[in-house]
Amino acid sequence: MTSNAAALAARLSVAPMMDWTDRHCRYLHRRLSRHALLYTEMVTAPALVRGGAVHLLAHDVSEHPVALQLGGSDPMELAQAARLGAQAGYDEINLNCGCPSDRVQSGTFGAVLMKDPARMAECVAAMREAVDVEVTVKCRIGVDDQDPEEVLPEFLARIVAAGITRVSIHARMAWLQGLSPKENRDIPPLNYPLVHRMKAYFPNLHISVNGGITSLDEAEAFLSGGLDGVMVGRAAYHTPADILCSADRRLFGDGPDSTPEQAVRDMLPYIDAHLVAGGKLNQITRHMLGLFAGRPGARGWRRALSEGASRPGAGPELVEAALAEIEALAQQAQAV
Ligand SMILES: Cc1cc2nc3c(=O)[nH]c(=O)nc-3n(C[C@H](O)[C@H](O)[C@H](O)COP(=O)(O)O)c2cc1C
Repeated sequence: MTSNAAALAARLSVAPMMDWTDRHCRYLHRRLSRHALLYTEMVTAPALVRGGAVHLLAHDVSEHPVALQLGGSDPMELAQAARLGAQAGYDEINLNCGCPSDRVQSGTFGAVLMKDPARMAECVAAMREAVDVEVTVKCRIGVDDQDPEEVLPEFLARIVAAGITRVSIHARMAWLQGLSPKENRDIPPLNYPLVHRMKAYFPNLHISVNGGITSLDEAEAFLSGGLDGVMVGRAAYHTPADILCSADRRLFGDGPDSTPEQAVRDMLPYIDAHLVAGGKLNQITRHMLGLFAGRPGARGWRRALSEGASRPGAGPELVEAALAEIEALAQQAQAV
């Protein structure tokens, strides 16, 4: 898989989400879309370099195209972490310049890098030097009292000067004081027109827009409006079938659509292997709760998995039984 493949896949990506987009989640998402680009959770460069997070690099070959997101602010450490990621087979290494959490702020990385674009540029330059795969950036439109109209173009100009050709922009400010990370994903208003203007300023920069996108219709509108990619976070996690099942046909011109039922069946051998290796059912099924969102039986499916999967001895038969319920309801609905 070349980095060019990751760039093509970035037409639609599933955002990096801590505790959510782990390898099991990505494996599930890959059953739903063959083409979308999948991001890991953020892995911090210090943890990776010191050896404490190397297990987080593990992934299945079928996850490709898959990008590793790193957090950090020390160029040498990030370079070393990027090298480990590339050696582990990731198609892209992404630097987090958008995460507002306290933990991340105290380590001086994430969104605070938007206040220190010179350091950000040093970081990405060191990362690019260290690996052959593409290095990309995920950022906000600004932080705290910055004026996004001023700082975003300056920040992107730095990125471009450092040789970066692809960026994802979460189209809202990060307010580092006073808002929790969760509030920072909802309260600062979205500014999509600014992201569109950035594409006009930087026509050769591949720009993905992120933030508040909840349907493929919206995604298509951004793409036909001139942006290169759309990154979807929460909606892809909570309603994965809505975002991913027709994405290959609609956004990549490569049908057919997938179905959540088939995805569940495809997960069964994976679940089996995980349990045989000593893993727990719930570690996988917790990512599957939203698969039938909006469909008859969705609540029963969610309940069966969330209540049943942590019981001792629970195995794939629990998932099969819950799927049979969903399929029976679908047949009943067709019969009337
Ligand atoms: C649970 C959760 C964890 C997140 N973790 C990360 C992360 O590790 N790195 C990152 O860049 N953004 C992280 N984000 C932000 C998302 O990548 C995305 O930018 C944000 O949710 C806005 O997109 P959305 O409205 O489509 O969800 C996280 C979001 C959520 C909901």
